Amino acid sequence: MNRRHAGLTKAVRTIPLSSPWIDERDEELVLETLRSGWLSLGPTGPRFEEAVCDVTGARHCAAVSSGTAGLHLSMRLAGIEPGDEVITSPYSFVASANCAIYEGATPVFADIDPRTYNLDPAAVEAAVTPRTTAVVAVDIFGYPCELDALLDVCRRQGLFLVEDACEALGAAYKGQPIGSHGHPTVFAFYPNKQITTGEGGAVTTADTDQHELLVSLRNQGRLETSSWLLHGRLGYNYRLDDVSAALGLGQLERLGEILAARSSVARRYDDLLANVDVETPLPDDDEHTRSWFVYVVKLPAAVDRDRVIARLAERGVASAPYLPSLALT
Ligand SMILES: Cc1ncc(COP(=O)(O)O)c(C=O)c1O
Repeated sequence: MNRRHAGLTKAVRTIPLSSPWIDERDEELVLETLRSGWLSLGPTGPRFEEAVCDVTGARHCAAVSSGTAGLHLSMRLAGIEPGDEVITSPYSFVASANCAIYEGATPVFADIDPRTYNLDPAAVEAAVTPRTTAVVAVDIFGYPCELDALLDVCRRQGLFLVEDACEALGAAYKGQPIGSHGHPTVFAFYPNKQITTGEGGAVTTADTDQHELLVSLRNQGRLETSSWLLHGRLGYNYRLDDVSAALGLGQLERLGEILAARSSVARRYDDLLANVDVETPLPDDDEHTRSWFVYVVKLPAAVDRDRVIARLAERGVASAPYLPSLALT
């Protein structure tokens, strides 16, 4: 056997949980930005924000340094104060609950619908107390939450709705893209997401005042009219730099292609798992169009999940235990 063959037989093909898809256009845009000298706030950030508005149908977009930063700023938009309660999903990434804690509020976990894994609007309503001020609804695994019912609860109870769409860029609710429904909606661009900026995120909103506040808060509380060293309010450094925005711009140019590729991988898993005793992800219906994030299956109760994960790893297939309940951690 020659060396080449020996190498081939030894190579173990591994399938990662996710991997970013970076092409030459992305590289070109990043290089262009590096060479421009605009490494932080420059002309590329606004171009990226405009592109986010184009794909989501949002009126305004404020790019930020992460999805977590976007969620935190949304709590500031909601006027959350110490002692408040914020109702959210226990079945999420930790940031959707932590953002309330950052402002001294208590996350209150309402039950999820076992079919969609998203917040059950009736459970949200049942969890409302006089101290409740906001709801953070998550589109878990890219499947849109029950927006109309949640908006209805929020309207009737006088609550502020924030949508954590960090896993859902490209998803749609009742035919309209997530991000286009007007309330603050947070996206994330970590490398396992549909598109990446390395680290990064964005908050969309239809409200011009909210957008102005986001732009100020992410930039140390500066006002549009203030000079660099004058700060109108307490703010943060949650800016997205132009180099990251350039990568995001390239990624957004082919969002359709990326989403289609992710869908075709999911369809392949559907086919391969057709005769396996697992519950596969909920398919789309008239009201919900998923944007594929991770492909999560529910194992029968008698199956040892850790053993399945270990057996997959032996075969070079990465997997993870999605998700530990935030209410129990
Ligand atoms: C549902 C959800 N919310 C919030 C976040 C936080 O985003 P980031 O990692 O960009 O801070 C993530 C990212 O993993 C997420 O999946």
